[in-house]
Formats: sequence, structure tokens, C-alpha cells
Amino acid sequence: MTLNINNRDYSFEAEVNMPLLWVLRDLLEMTGTKYSCGIGLCGACTVLVNGEAARSCSIPISAVLDKKITTIEHSEPNSLLQPLKDSWVENDTPQCGYCQSGQIMNALALLTQNLDPSEEEIELGMRGNICRCGTYPRIKKSIQQVAQKNREL
Ligand code: FES
Repeated sequence: MTLNINNRDYSFEAEVNMPLLWVLRDLLEMTGTKYSCGIGLCGACTVLVNGEAARSCSIPISAVLDKKITTIEHSEPNSLLQPLKDSWVENDTPQCGYCQSGQIMNALALLTQNLDPSEEEIELGMRGNICRCGTYPRIKKSIQQVAQKNREL
């Protein structure tokens, strides 16, 4: 079967009920997306499916065959993903780093829907992504910085 990931078609053999995360990590070696709770509750495995945040550990391939998948590896110059990555670096956002690709992908979905979120909207939009190291203030600052830079454009 074939999946469109980061604007490129990838073909592979797998059972249709295999979780998307397994395809990304084990078959396609895109290891930026992380396995954590395995039941869609922590957000570490977040990717975008047709622009919306989705938990790749809990989505079977059959559900995304005709969709566009975006992962942390995406390098589209016109997307907000690179500014988010830059802001994460600038603010020294990660601690252990394990949750952060999921945090960035969720932030991308948030800013794609709302380019000028309030503090409350950021907290609400990011609340499903758990960070055991407690980097929430830096995550919020990093998102606010990207939003602010966009306002200034
Ligand atoms: Fe360690 Fe978030 S940086 S879990």
C-alpha cells in the first residue's frame, strides 16, 4: 500500500490494521515521531492528518490511506513547522525531549487553525500533550513567539 507522507508517496507492505506509528518508525524509519503511552492519551506520537493533529499510535493505516500525513521530518519551507522548530531551539524548550516532536506537531495544528491564539487558547489547544519534564511555560512561549512573528509580517 501507499501513504502520502510529507508530500511524498511511500509504498510498503503491511496489514491494514497496523497503527500508523509503526509504519512511520519501523517500516519507513521516520523515528522523529515517538511511541509513549500507546493508547492515544499523551500526545508524543502526534502527527497531522489532513492538517489536523492525530495520535499515530492509535490510527490504523486503513483510516489514512487517502489522506495527507505530516510528520516532524517535514521540511516544507512555506509551512509554520520550521519557524516552530526554530522557536523551540531559540527558547531551549525541551528537557529530556521525548514529548517534543508531538508538542511541535500539535502546535502546528493549533497555529494552522488559529494564527493568533490567546494564552488561554494555547493552553486549551495543547492540553492533550503531556510533558513529564514540565516544559509547558517554554512550549507556550515558543508558540507565542511564532504567532507574534507572524503578526509582524
Ligand atoms: Fe521530557 Fe517533555 S521534555 S517529557
